[in-house]
Amino acid sequence: MIRLTVALDKWAAKLARSLAARGFSGTVSLIKRTIHQGWILYLNEGLGADALSEMPTAVRLPYSSWISYLNDRFDKVLAADLQFAEQIHSNRWVLYLGRRFDRRFGVNTSGILYRHQLEPAHRFTQSTGYSATPKAIFCRMLRQLKLDFSRFTFVDIGCGKGKALLLAGEVPFKQIVGIDLSPEFMRIAEENFSRYRGMRRCSSVQFICMDAREFSAPDGPAIYYFFDPFGESVMKEIVQNIQRSLARAPWETYVVYYIANHQQALIESGFYPIQRTHLYAIYKATP
Ligand SMILES: C[S@@+](CC[C@H](N)C(=O)[O-])C[C@H]1O[C@@H](n2cnc3c(N)ncnc32)[C@H](O)[C@@H]1O
Repeated sequence: MIRLTVALDKWAAKLARSLAARGFSGTVSLIKRTIHQGWILYLNEGLGADALSEMPTAVRLPYSSWISYLNDRFDKVLAADLQFAEQIHSNRWVLYLGRRFDRRFGVNTSGILYRHQLEPAHRFTQSTGYSATPKAIFCRMLRQLKLDFSRFTFVDIGCGKGKALLLAGEVPFKQIVGIDLSPEFMRIAEENFSRYRGMRRCSSVQFICMDAREFSAPDGPAIYYFFDPFGESVMKEIVQNIQRSLARAPWETYVVYYIANHQQALIESGFYPIQRTHLYAIYKATP
């Protein structure tokens, strides 16, 4: 393991030199992560996906190809860049952890489905595809909130096969709601929920098969969870719906956004960031 870390350190230094030659003045860091028990090489720690997308192409392209190379060469290297979700979730180690979770808890959540493999309805909603939130990341994001969860409804917008719902069920939320466009995912999510061999602290669960753009926000404090489900304009529509309902009744509301590619939608609707990392962002609705 030490040899791998040393090798990766050398690659990080090489990458930094190569990017510096192209005018990149930030830092390249090698971070040993416990979440995936792997490594992430990333630029300018903490600036988040937006900063990466603003990078000049001359810097971003070599960065991406270096990361692909490292991904092929070392099993456990994960990377932050524009195809971040795809890179994390197609990483062999992460796929293995997903399958292990399924075996252990008797459910079916793992694997990746690309947009063209989803049902035809998804073509009109800018769906990104399907993969499930890694357990360790989910727990870490919720830990940041430091709230009395028993007051909150947890809503997973684009719940897929329900992995985030299973994990939220281990927390004493007042209620859990899963919304997905796909009837097939909805069926699997319900089945997973009844089979799950993990802990269950919230018994009020609702599965709704619909386009999330039609969804109306529940009464009471809520945490909305998004795992990069769709593109910017759909994200905007949904966030504006939430904000409109808050204008009528200003409930305490948070958005937890994993692989937060379209944060502008939240900012424009008056949400403010309480935490932003290269993996996720947490926003709170302005009172
Ligand atoms: C990346 S998966 C996230 C799965 C789940 N949230 C999790 O963390 O395990 C994104 C999901 O969003 C769903 N989706 C995409 N567009 C949608 C829409 N307009 N309305 C509802 N669900 C949608 C897809 O069907 C897919 O299951």
